[in-house]
Amino acid sequence: MTRFTRLRLEVMMLCAILLALTLSPVDAFDKVRGVNLGGWLVVEGWIKPSLFDGIPNGDMLDGTQVQLKSVTLQKYISAVGGGGSNVTVDRDFASTWETLKLWRVSENQFQLRTLQGQFLTSANDNGLIMANADSPGMAETFFIERSSSRIHIKPLNGSYIQATADNALIANYQFQPDFGDDNAATFEMTIVANNLHGDYQLANGYGPEKAKTVLAEHRKTFITSNDFEFLWRNGINTVRIPVGWWIAQDPDPPSPFVGGSLAALDSAFSWAQAYDIKCIIDLHAAPGSQNGAEHSASRDGSVDWPSPAYISQTLDVINFLSARYANNTALLGIELLNEPSAASVPLDTLISYYKNGYQIVRNYSSTAYVIMCQRIGNADPMELYQANIGSSNIVLDLHYYNLFDPYFDNLTGVQNIQFVYNNRAVQLETLNSANGPLVFIGEWVNEWNVLNASKIQYQMFGRAQLDVFNKASFGWSYWTLKNDRPHWNFEWNIKNRFLLLSNSSVKLPNFFLLAALSCATFLLTISGFTR
Ligand SMILES: *[C@@H]1O[C@H](CO)[C@@H](O)[C@H](O)[C@H]1NC(C)=O
Ligand SMILES: *[C@@H]1O[C@H](CO)[C@@H](O)[C@H](O)[C@H]1NC(C)=O
Ligand SMILES: *[C@@H]1O[C@H](CO)[C@@H](O)[C@H](O)[C@H]1NC(C)=O
Ligand SMILES: *[C@@H]1O[C@H](CO)[C@@H](O)[C@H](O)[C@H]1NC(C)=O
Ligand SMILES: *[C@@H]1O[C@H](CO)[C@@H](O)[C@H](O)[C@H]1NC(C)=O
Ligand SMILES: *[C@@H]1O[C@H](CO)[C@@H](O)[C@H](O)[C@H]1NC(C)=O
Repeated sequence: MTRFTRLRLEVMMLCAILLALTLSPVDAFDKVRGVNLGGWLVVEGWIKPSLFDGIPNGDMLDGTQVQLKSVTLQKYISAVGGGGSNVTVDRDFASTWETLKLWRVSENQFQLRTLQGQFLTSANDNGLIMANADSPGMAETFFIERSSSRIHIKPLNGSYIQATADNALIANYQFQPDFGDDNAATFEMTIVANNLHGDYQLANGYGPEKAKTVLAEHRKTFITSNDFEFLWRNGINTVRIPVGWWIAQDPDPPSPFVGGSLAALDSAFSWAQAYDIKCIIDLHAAPGSQNGAEHSASRDGSVDWPSPAYISQTLDVINFLSARYANNTALLGIELLNEPSAASVPLDTLISYYKNGYQIVRNYSSTAYVIMCQRIGNADPMELYQANIGSSNIVLDLHYYNLFDPYFDNLTGVQNIQFVYNNRAVQLETLNSANGPLVFIGEWVNEWNVLNASKIQYQMFGRAQLDVFNKASFGWSYWTLKNDRPHWNFEWNIKNRFLLLSNSSVKLPNFFLLAALSCATFLLTISGFTR
């Protein structure tokens, strides 16, 4: 063999290898390696705080909790018994009876809801304010005038409310009150909780016209096809897409919800098809709210979902989504309900809902995965293994955060990592080997309570989670693609290398193909030479 022939053979072999690499199915779908598209079609203020920046009186949104103290009596307003009875102005300290939740009517009109759920009302002949209205109307709606933390309160049809010397609250102050210390119609307002920033607060805060503009812009720009390209390049094969119940009534959902999320979901499905990514539709917000959090679009933190009417409405949403997307090649599964609260949603109610939801999805698709989520709070995921929800392609979604529980508050980095390798891994193995649903870590994040952790520590924490969650029989999805807080932000983690996905997951760059092509050209050229 001449030196030249030998070189040719070597070059040909190299070319063959490159070509094989280019053509091999490196991304065959095995398990979900997913990312959540959180904060997009279901708004979460902490994910994108700027969405709320333009709301007038923006610290008085639905569900904001306030305590009101008379400046003359120096006593707090109290709904006796937590509601359903009288209102007194006689408390030195404020606690639950003295805490009222705002229901916003406009930027200066509000209703005030007690602990037990009743509303303050002016519907009494003598102007006495009581806390015994079960639902709010005109007589339960008050103008609130504000000068920083001081307020005046006035029923729509009456005089200003004042605290009387005998500790009652009466709407009979005839003049325009000032905000001074000696004015009986002036109250000091303390905002004790302002932690709900969801779709309800946004839409009702802006009002219908402005909300439509803000949400249209957000839905169009927060997630785009470029994001799907980014995910695809990084070996992500699935997106879990939170949606709210109002999507089923698009384009005209009940007030204050804003239409348009359905078109955005349709776009997500087309981008997914283009990048060979699968979609999980996740019903994140059910009517009435299944957990009281902003991400379930609760108005004021109450959990009203477990009622027959809301459950039936929720099944209609599942029917709508199944009918629309069952035959879409990008559909991987439908998650029936995100994070129902263990404290407020009884297990038997939930299981019955999951069974009905399973049947509905199966009515349209024999293969789509039907995903049920573990209850949050104090609940053992095993409770859903024994439930026998349906016969095929069932998945249980667990959310694994080393956060949200005091247990994690003071753990060191090493202890956090050990927790993942020990506790999480053991639970996963137990569930994997149980005779039941596939296991999905549908939410996890590369963030913890370790103060000032280094980049290397974050990388190790991320590595530990990937090592362990890769073993989940259905796979995992990161929470969440974009986030104002960098460590929660998947994109930031990848770009800044705080989270290192394994090499094999990264798409082979096109230079392999280019190299193979150059080889071929080179071979043709040298063949020409030797002939
Ligand atoms: C409530 O107020 C009414 C009218 O002032 C009074 O007669 C009644 O005793 C009060 N009830 C309670 C429980 O304070
Ligand atoms: C205000 O309207 C309510 C009913 O909406 C009525 O019961 C109440 O007496 C009215 N108050 C005044 C001061 O007119
Ligand atoms: C989905 O496709 C199947 C088979 O082609 C068809 O029978 C069914 O009607 C389609 N379902 C929907 C909801 O379009
Ligand atoms: C399945 O679809 C059929 C026909 O539309 C309907 O009659 C039936 O009630 C559906 N089943 C469920 C569980 O929704
Ligand atoms: C964590 O440490 C702080 C400060 O030492 C302490 O106050 C707190 O109780 C600890 N939390 C737990 C859950 O141990
Ligand atoms: C973390 O860093 C901040 C700012 O760099 C510093 O003020 C703080 O003391 C640090 N905390 C710990 C626990 O090291």
